[in-house]
Amino acid sequence: MQDTLVAPDAASTEDFLPIHGTDYIEFYVGNAKQAAHYYRTAFGFQPLAYAGPETGVRDRASYVLVQNKIRLVLTTPLYPSGEIADHIYRHGDGVRVLALWVEDARSAFEETVRRGARPYLEPVVEEDEHGRVVRSGIHTYGDTLHIFVERKDYAGAFLPGFRPWHSDYRPAPVGLLHVDHCVGNVRLGEMNVWVDFYAHVMGFHNLASFDDKDISTEYSALMSKVMANGNERIKFPINEPAPGRRKSQIEEYLEFYQGPGVQHIAVATDDILATVTELRRRGVEFLEVPDTYYDNLFDRVGPIDEDLEPLRQNRILVDRDDEGYLLQLFTKPVEDRPTLFYEIIQRKGARSFGKGNFKALFEAIEREQALRGNL
Ligand code: FE2
Repeated sequence: MQDTLVAPDAASTEDFLPIHGTDYIEFYVGNAKQAAHYYRTAFGFQPLAYAGPETGVRDRASYVLVQNKIRLVLTTPLYPSGEIADHIYRHGDGVRVLALWVEDARSAFEETVRRGARPYLEPVVEEDEHGRVVRSGIHTYGDTLHIFVERKDYAGAFLPGFRPWHSDYRPAPVGLLHVDHCVGNVRLGEMNVWVDFYAHVMGFHNLASFDDKDISTEYSALMSKVMANGNERIKFPINEPAPGRRKSQIEEYLEFYQGPGVQHIAVATDDILATVTELRRRGVEFLEVPDTYYDNLFDRVGPIDEDLEPLRQNRILVDRDDEGYLLQLFTKPVEDRPTLFYEIIQRKGARSFGKGNFKALFEAIEREQALRGNL
């Protein structure tokens, strides 16, 4: 199950946008206090920082959660007007910002805007007693933003303007380590527009491509290209729907999100059995994989370290490429609109995305779509 790898051309050009990793992911949500409770209780995130009326911010409240290298910011508006309230009205709870930890936020802004990025935030220096942070930002697909964060001179909890958030309520982490990739859904015919954006404006390269022959079921199909930055710490697959007999899962997303946006966030673990067992115990809902998936699993993927029975019990998917294998599982959407969901992934050498599981995965998604009356 080898993905179609396109030779990266990153080596031939200097990296004009050095990125160290994902800095944070910010969600605009209808009730940040309750969303924070969900991510702490169900996913084991720990309280890190807070900004709101108590810290002098008058129009919003933001809760920052952390688990190893993953930082989530949950922001809610305090009044009905403004960009946060508008975003929630249109999209429901969803991702507004994919923030990138960069070496130089001024240069990131200038280089990307010079190559055609639509500016969102001119470089701004924010300071407090812990040092200084430079941030800037550009638009990407839909209403989604990239904020560039330069924090080499900062030692505070999160960003200036936030205070540390102390709480005795601390359900244990579940072993989520870092963001592996973030997937965007865009409209029919727009995948290559955004592939070109990441290639030319951001300097990313194409890591893998999938067409409707790779990703199709009886009902629907999609196409996907994976764009990655120079060190491949940032991987952004871009999906678009392909014509099928029924409404594809991408079209369902676009209808309920009212346009392009982040479809799923994949988070890495180094013990997927322990992570998924604990997430299930805490009430996280996963897509249901049919029992037949496990009938000839080892014939398909070859020898692996794990025993079959715990994989079957936890409904964990396995795929192999020419570099190793990976284990993965997908949650159901984490809000009432069928929009954002999570992937839990453990890589054992494989750098690909589970192409061998696409069919089983999409059939599982379509069973859920049918239950919603959207297939
Ligand atoms: Fe994924």
